[in-house]
Amino acid sequence: MLAGKRLLLIIGGGIAAYKALDLIRRLRERGAAVTPVLTRAGSEFVTPLSVAALAGEKVFTDLFDLTDEAEMGHIQLSRSADLVVVAPATADLMAKMAHGHANDLASTLLMATDTQVLLAPAMNVRMWDHPATQRNLATLLGDGLRIVGPNSGDMACGEYGPGRMAEPLEIVAAIDAALGQGPLTGKRIIVTSGPTHEPIDPVRYIANRSSGAQGTAIARALAALGAEVVFVTGPADVPPPAGVRVVPIETAQQMLQAVEEALPADAAVFAAAVADWRVASASGSKIKKDAGRLPTLEFAENPDILAGVSAHATKRPALVVGFAAETDDVIAHATAKRARKGCDWIVANDVSPATGIMGGAENAVHLITPEGCEDWPRMGKQAVADKLAARIATALAATQPADKTKA
Ligand code: C5P
Repeated sequence: MLAGKRLLLIIGGGIAAYKALDLIRRLRERGAAVTPVLTRAGSEFVTPLSVAALAGEKVFTDLFDLTDEAEMGHIQLSRSADLVVVAPATADLMAKMAHGHANDLASTLLMATDTQVLLAPAMNVRMWDHPATQRNLATLLGDGLRIVGPNSGDMACGEYGPGRMAEPLEIVAAIDAALGQGPLTGKRIIVTSGPTHEPIDPVRYIANRSSGAQGTAIARALAALGAEVVFVTGPADVPPPAGVRVVPIETAQQMLQAVEEALPADAAVFAAAVADWRVASASGSKIKKDAGRLPTLEFAENPDILAGVSAHATKRPALVVGFAAETDDVIAHATAKRARKGCDWIVANDVSPATGIMGGAENAVHLITPEGCEDWPRMGKQAVADKLAARIATALAATQPADKTKA
């Protein structure tokens, strides 16, 4: 519930501005008061009248409105809220914020505020992927701003990819989390994701197939519920989600070290496809192709991170979740794996090529717990992640937070 909370909502100029109207309704339904600010470009997409009518408050639109300055200066306006929300946050607004511009009401408020800021970016996929936007995003995350979305999907401009503004209810969940109201607020959760790359020499490696899509979706879902997520990721095909602490690694040994450094944690989800073996003595220089002579590689076993953390003597998280990607007898193998690894839950899936799950957008999983096996219907990887995150929140609700001072 957001009763008694005041939100300053800055609506930027993008087609997603229409979703800001629904967002205002959802926020007011939950008891929040919304002070709306519409940029000049935003007013090209939604009218001040609609915004004011839904918010039930005056909409602020211009920096140099002398009446407003007399009634409520922009400094006061920027500080009277519990949270500042920018939805849609356009590429232009993000650039202004990253560089400290203050040349209209919205950017001036964002510069003057001492309140937490949550951005819901929305823009064309190319604009989102542009190095300038990604640089600005990194700057803004470094400045401590929170981000929700953007989501991937069909865009109003006819293209496909990341850039769609998060849905109003996702933004509400992110607002809850930012205000310390999410069910996982105060919980630290480690998520491993992606493949590991084990070098043969400086240019060659062995690896497992893994896009990192499922692990990334899980990290995103946990962060949306308020968790502090440490996202330890190998070289994945998809970019890491916003709002998590990203620890990029390449090898299984580096992944183990990053996980150990992130302990203690309340939960750990091991979605990475870790290579079981590494080359025992990787060559420091490129192995030359020598006609007729094949190199012989000797392997060494990689540490089993999941089993190691599950058996940790002093810093075992209250909930440890492993994954089992199998191609036959999925449930039997996964049930045996749960016992062998010593973890609490196993998320099992059939990755035989016919399922199209590996690298695809959907997943069909079985959740194996001490109580037995649940078969979840086939659904999108983000939906699987959201369901798993909700289950983790329920499981952790009854546990004491991990003592992070032991780190
Ligand atoms: O043994 P297997 O690789 O099938 O087990 C899969 C589970 O174990 C996944 O949760 C994976 O992230 C984890 N794992 C690990 N370290 C390894 C191998 C697997 O954490 N070296």
